[in-house]
Amino acid sequence: MCGIVGYVGDRNAYPILIKGLHRLEYRGYDSAGFALVGKNGELNVYKCKGKVSALENFVEGKDVEGSCGIAHTRWATHGEPNSVNAHPHYSCTENIALIHNGIIENWALLKKALIREGYEFKSETDTEVLVNLIEYVRNTNKCSLLDAVRGALKQVIGAYAIAVVEKGREDEIIVARQSSPLVVGIGEGEYFLASDATPIVEYTDKVVYLQDGEIAVLTKNKPLRVVNFDNAECPIDVKKLEMNISELEKGGYKHFMLKEIHEQPKTIMDCLRGRLSPDSYDVILSGVRDNAYRFLSARRIIIVACGTSWHASLIGEHLIEDLCRIPVEVEYASEFRYRNPVLSPEDVVIAVSQSGETADTLAAMSLAKAAGCFVFGICNVIGSSVARASDAGCYIHVGPEISVASTKAFTGQVTVFAMIALTLANTLTRISRDRFEQLSKALLDLPALVQAELDTLDAPIKELAEKFKDSRDFIYIGRGYEFPVALEGALKLKEVSYIHADGYPAAEMKHGPIALIDKTMPVLAIAIPDALYEKTASNVQEVKARGGVVISVVSNDDEMVSKMSDYAIRVPVTDPCLMPVLVSIPLQLFAYYIADAKGLDVDQPRNLAKSVTVE
Ligand code: G6P
Repeated sequence: MCGIVGYVGDRNAYPILIKGLHRLEYRGYDSAGFALVGKNGELNVYKCKGKVSALENFVEGKDVEGSCGIAHTRWATHGEPNSVNAHPHYSCTENIALIHNGIIENWALLKKALIREGYEFKSETDTEVLVNLIEYVRNTNKCSLLDAVRGALKQVIGAYAIAVVEKGREDEIIVARQSSPLVVGIGEGEYFLASDATPIVEYTDKVVYLQDGEIAVLTKNKPLRVVNFDNAECPIDVKKLEMNISELEKGGYKHFMLKEIHEQPKTIMDCLRGRLSPDSYDVILSGVRDNAYRFLSARRIIIVACGTSWHASLIGEHLIEDLCRIPVEVEYASEFRYRNPVLSPEDVVIAVSQSGETADTLAAMSLAKAAGCFVFGICNVIGSSVARASDAGCYIHVGPEISVASTKAFTGQVTVFAMIALTLANTLTRISRDRFEQLSKALLDLPALVQAELDTLDAPIKELAEKFKDSRDFIYIGRGYEFPVALEGALKLKEVSYIHADGYPAAEMKHGPIALIDKTMPVLAIAIPDALYEKTASNVQEVKARGGVVISVVSNDDEMVSKMSDYAIRVPVTDPCLMPVLVSIPLQLFAYYIADAKGLDVDQPRNLAKSVTVE
C-alpha cells in the first residue's frame, strides 16, 4: 500500500506531485507529504496527518517552489498515522529525504546498529531507518548517493519501492524496487515516477516498469540509467502506456464507486471484446489456448486470491467444475502461502488480483512456481507484478478501478472465468456445441442486461437504501452460484457503510445465524430462478417466521419469494451460471447508496486501501 510519486525536470514539481497523490490516494490515505529540492539546492519536507487535501491546506501560503520532488500518501504499517510518522523522512542531518512503499523487515536490527553509531530517530517507522542507513553508508564510504542507496539496500530485507532526493541535487532522484511496484515515466529531459502509471499518463506515454532488484537514476536532461544492486547496468525496456485520462476522472458522478458501477455494461463488453466472436460464438483466450495442455492435464486447479477477487474466484470454481468437471479449490492467498499446501507440477494455480500487486497473492504464486505448478494470472492492471510473475494469463480489461471498493473488476473477473470455463469445457468436449453457443450468446447479452438493470434499479435502490441506512447488522444469504454473491454483497456493505454484514449459504442459517433474527436484523436473500429456488424460498420462510425483515433479489417475473419479502429487487434473468453478474449489480448499488446516505467517504473508506502490498 502507500502511493509514491516524483518529478525531476524543468517544471514546477508541486502541482504534479499533488495531482499524482490524488490519483494514488486509493492506495492509502492516513497521511501525506512531499519533499522538494529548491533552486538553490535546499531540501524541504512538508507532511501532515490525513488526506492529500489536508496536505494542500497545510502548505497553503508556504514556499513550494522546486523542480525536483518526491511525494507520498500513506497506509500506516509501522507507527500510528500522524505527521511524525508521515513520509517523506529526513535523515538525521536532513541532507537526504526518502519515501517508501512496503516494509523493511529487519528494521529493528538496523535501527539498533544505527543508534550505536549515534543516530537518533524521531518516528516509529522502518522508513526512517532506511534513510539513515543510506546516509550512514554515504558518509562512511564517502560514496555517491547511488552507491549509498545500493549499499544500504544490500543490507535490507523486505519489500519496497523507494525514491530518494538529496540536498544540493535539484536535478536527480534515485529510485529502487523490490516486490513493490514502481513505474518511471520518460519525458523530454524530465522524469516522472509513481506506484502506478495513473499520475504519469498526462505527461508522457513512455514508461519503464522497474524490475525487482533494480535501481534507477533519474537525472534531468540525461538518459535513464538502471543498475542492479551490484552496479551492473540493466537493460531498459521502454513500454508505451495505453491509458485514457478520462478513465481517471469522475465523469460527472459523485463518487468513483458509482461511476464504476455504471461503467459495467461497457467494461463487461471490453472484457469480451476480441475474445468472444459475436458471429461464430467462439471464445479465444490466447493464454488458455496456447497452454491448453497444462489445463487439460491438470490434476486440479487451485485459485488463490484475496478480498473481492476471492469471491469472484469462488464463482470461477463453480463455473469450471460445473462446465468442465475439473476439480477446483479456492484458497485465500494469505492462508495458502503459510499452510504448507500439497502441490505438484500437475496442478494449475490461477492467481486472481485486480491490482496485480497484492503481496499475499504474489507470495502464493511464488510458492506454486517453486513447486513446479503452471501459474496463470487474471488481473486488471497491465504490466503489474501478477501479470509479470505468471506463466500465462488473461487481463480483465475493465480500465482503472479507483474506488477502493471493487465493483467492475469483480464482474470482469467473473466474465473471464466464464470464458475460461467455456474454452476448457469446449476443448474437453464436456459440453455440447448447443450449450456452448447458448452460454456464449448469454455472455454477449450481459452488457445490455446490466444496462437495463442500472436504468431501472438505480433510483428504487437509492430509496431502499434510505430506509436501511441506520441498520446495525445485515445478513446476506444465497445458494450455489449465489452464495459467493452473498459474500461479496455483504463485503461491499461492510467496506463502504461500516454496517456489520455477513454472507451465508442460505441453508446454513439454521445452524446458527437464525438465532440472530428479529425485526432489527434485515436479511437480504438472493432467490433467483435456478435449481435451488424452492429451497431458498423455504429459507426465506424460516426468516419470516421469526419476524425477520427480508429484502429479496428475485427475477423480474418472480411470484413466490417476492410475496414473502418485505421488499423485492427485481433483476433480469440469464443462464444461472451467469446470474452472479446480474445479482451483484443491485448489491453494489445498495451498499453505495447506504454509504452515501450516511454521508461517508465512499471512495476511501476508513482503514482500507485498494492495493494491499503488505502481508
Ligand atoms: C483490498 C481491496 C479489495 C480487493 C483486495 C484484493 O482489500 O480493498 O477491494 O478485493 O484488496 O485486491 P486485488 O488487487 O488483489 O484484487
